[in-house]
Amino acid sequence: MKQRSSNDWTVADSAELYGIDRWGAGNFCLSENGQVLVQVEFPEGPVSLPLSELVAGAEARGHNCPLLIRIENLLQARVELLNESFAKAIAESGYRNRYQGVFPVKVNQQAEVIKEICRFGKSYSHGLEAGSKAELLLALANLNENSLLICNGYKDREFIDLGLLSRKLGIDCIFVIESPSELSIIIDRSRELQITPLIGLRIKVSAKVGGLWTETSGDRSSFGLSTAQLIEVVDQLRQEQMLDCLQLLHCHLGSQIPDITEIRAGVREAARFYTELSDEGVPLRYLDLGGGLAVDYIGNQSQHSHSRNYDLPGYCRAIVETVAETVDAKRVPHPVLITESGRATVAHTTLLLFNILDVLQFEPLALPERRPDNLHQLVAEQFALNLQAHQPSPANYKRALSNRDQIRDLFRAGEVSLRQRSLAENLFLSIARKTLAWLDQNPDVETELPQLRHQLADIYYGNFSVFQSLPDTWAIGQVYPVMPIERLNEAPTRDAIISDLTCDCDGKLAGFILGHSESPTLPVHSLDADENYILGVFLIGAYQETLGDLHNLFGDTNVLSVKLNADGSFDVVRETPADSVADVLLQTEYNPQELFERMRSRAEAAVRKGVINLQERQQLLNEFSTRLQGSTYFNH
Ligand SMILES: Cc1ncc(COP(=O)(O)O)c(C=O)c1O
Repeated sequence: MKQRSSNDWTVADSAELYGIDRWGAGNFCLSENGQVLVQVEFPEGPVSLPLSELVAGAEARGHNCPLLIRIENLLQARVELLNESFAKAIAESGYRNRYQGVFPVKVNQQAEVIKEICRFGKSYSHGLEAGSKAELLLALANLNENSLLICNGYKDREFIDLGLLSRKLGIDCIFVIESPSELSIIIDRSRELQITPLIGLRIKVSAKVGGLWTETSGDRSSFGLSTAQLIEVVDQLRQEQMLDCLQLLHCHLGSQIPDITEIRAGVREAARFYTELSDEGVPLRYLDLGGGLAVDYIGNQSQHSHSRNYDLPGYCRAIVETVAETVDAKRVPHPVLITESGRATVAHTTLLLFNILDVLQFEPLALPERRPDNLHQLVAEQFALNLQAHQPSPANYKRALSNRDQIRDLFRAGEVSLRQRSLAENLFLSIARKTLAWLDQNPDVETELPQLRHQLADIYYGNFSVFQSLPDTWAIGQVYPVMPIERLNEAPTRDAIISDLTCDCDGKLAGFILGHSESPTLPVHSLDADENYILGVFLIGAYQETLGDLHNLFGDTNVLSVKLNADGSFDVVRETPADSVADVLLQTEYNPQELFERMRSRAEAAVRKGVINLQERQQLLNEFSTRLQGSTYFNH
């Protein structure tokens, strides 16, 4: 990769460094003047818009960073692409049935997202999957006609009653049995309400998949029936003369499956279950293969857990062909194919934009020109190492590092003063910086000091909370594409980790993909005075919004749903203002009015004691009241 200090840095170098053409999947790219663009296909041709214009448009509407932006067009494109790709694979392979997808609500439950998925999926009868009572309710109210409502997860009587009653409206609500205990409730309630249920069975396949969710399948998975339980449930349904209700077989191998051969193996096993049960006279119609279609977060099309070694057409072909081959062997009719693709449907649509508030640099402060007298011998040596006469080299650096650590020991033992320690540490930073500059000129030697660049990295403080907006980066080490949204025609000469606003050392982004390798630091530009330097975090539409929490009481950010138009303009379809301080206090059992009243009493008492005057009291209470209604984030 090109030297980042070079004067002839181009937009193409930035594209290569941040990998935007690989993970951007045609949705994000760079303009000639160094801006990140969101790009949307229209019949008239592609339209692109700089993200900086979206930020300006949001600010003009009163919504500052941090901003969560959903691009509706990208959601539409994903829903269409998923359905069209299956249709193509089915047509090309001569598969004798159809695809009918569902969106698993848990991957993004936000009202706007669900509403739009149903709207864009209407012509494909794209349905929903619900895993809790709250999800069932929102799914029932949003579901398109002729779409499926698949109910996974554990279900109680209330859940089952509502699902059964919805059948009276003609809704194809299918209860997927996860554990044998659910069956008796379904049988009892359907008899009582005199409504015929639609039933699915979730199986545990033994084929294992790689990635972060290997525990989802296999004997010890917490969901689904063992083969013995499966047979028992089938026999019970037969005995109850309810075998007709059993129409769907379900399995979920895991999320974000990186390897297509493992998907094929899992699908083959599921299709074998389907074939055998059909052979036994179970009138199955649907084979639901769950989620697992991965997103290439790092854009290198590999078996890395954040990537995948296949594309969407390849995924569809693998499923269609494998199911056809397996059921054909026993002359069983081809089932309707269902997948519950979550992250691959919504990841690309959402991005987080936040501004940098401050920077901490690990640079030496001013050093004395002449060596001070009476230095400890190790500090004196540090001084000498820093002089030009010593060429920077890994050996000199290691010597300076050892000196620094010994000087710290001596300080702890009371043998070196604070001022000498300060000088020694400052000298060490100077030596380290010179060594790093020398390594830039001699990249082959960097292997000897692999950590140096990261140890000297700046800390860029971002106006966001990892725990609220990007919880998976903290919880499971998820890596998302992160990059500045402007100045990409300039070399990013600094390396930084990105710290958030929480007072938590875990509140940081310290895992990035650069070129084709992982790095704990992100190349960034040095900040100009008063610059509103904005970083974008991309592909975050799956799981993040509802998994996020209130750590340090940073609330939901401003959210804008945006639609690009063919003429290059954009509409803000929906704007949801960020949580106010009062909102987050309410969520943590405080009553903001009561807090205000307590503050008022305190101020009143202070006036009585003559500690503050009435004007100061008023100023304090006005400020308290305004802050209650204000944002939990920094205003710039
Ligand atoms: C039953 C079920 N279906 C679908 C999904 C969505 O998976 P993905 O986001 O990988 O498509 C999940 C998530 O783990 C799941 O548990």
